[in-house]
Amino acid sequence: MHASPEAAVRSLADYLVGQARQAVQQRGRFVWALAGGSSPRRLYELLASAEFRNRIDWAAGYFFFGDERYVPHTSPDSNYRLARTTLLEPLGIAADHVFPVDTALPPAAAAQAYTEALQAFFGPPPMQFDLVLLGLGDNAHTASLFPHTPVLNEQVAGAREVYLPEQQVYRITLTAPLINQANQVAFLVYGAEKAAAVRQVLRGENDPAQYPAQLVAPAQPAEWFLDQAAAAELATS
Ligand code: 6PG
Repeated sequence: MHASPEAAVRSLADYLVGQARQAVQQRGRFVWALAGGSSPRRLYELLASAEFRNRIDWAAGYFFFGDERYVPHTSPDSNYRLARTTLLEPLGIAADHVFPVDTALPPAAAAQAYTEALQAFFGPPPMQFDLVLLGLGDNAHTASLFPHTPVLNEQVAGAREVYLPEQQVYRITLTAPLINQANQVAFLVYGAEKAAAVRQVLRGENDPAQYPAQLVAPAQPAEWFLDQAAAAELATS
């Protein structure tokens, strides 16, 4: 746990340098699934900064998305737009190394097309990311694995559409089996508003329907990059 969001972000950036270097040494490339939402913005900016940009062999990187809002790529809500503007374009990542969700298709077709893009990229199973970067919602969702949604029961590694009745929006998400096949999973969670969710996921009763981030259980246990505020309820539990 880190003293501040900035410290958590910096620690994760250092960790990612090591992960990318190891993947390139072992496999000649690194394949990440990027997180969306607002938390990763500072991380992406730091990775693209003069301090970090030369510490990773970015030309060996391939970038997918852990989830995507069902909005145009130009929308301020687009996870692809966030990554494109803060990380991918500043680093000059080639377009054929970036795999956005095609949100111009209907939701189910977009999810199917993404599953096919994953299969085409990875080849024979298992589809194995070197790293999946995740955030955590204050309701303990991660990626777009939201409480009490059918996708939580998906047993197949791939991408699926998710309908959120409260917000009346669709999302596209990687399924828990695909996330759990990853070599490594890292959560970046900071802010007091996340403290209860962090406690529920890490210390609460086992109830993935209510706390979907509990579904994330890769062979190599996930790393959590937390600030003190988000970790505040762990000490007392
Ligand atoms: C998304 C993310 C989602 C996010 C959490 C936390 O598309 O919103 O993938 O899982 O990580 O909702 O969001 P914040 O970082 O904005 O708090």
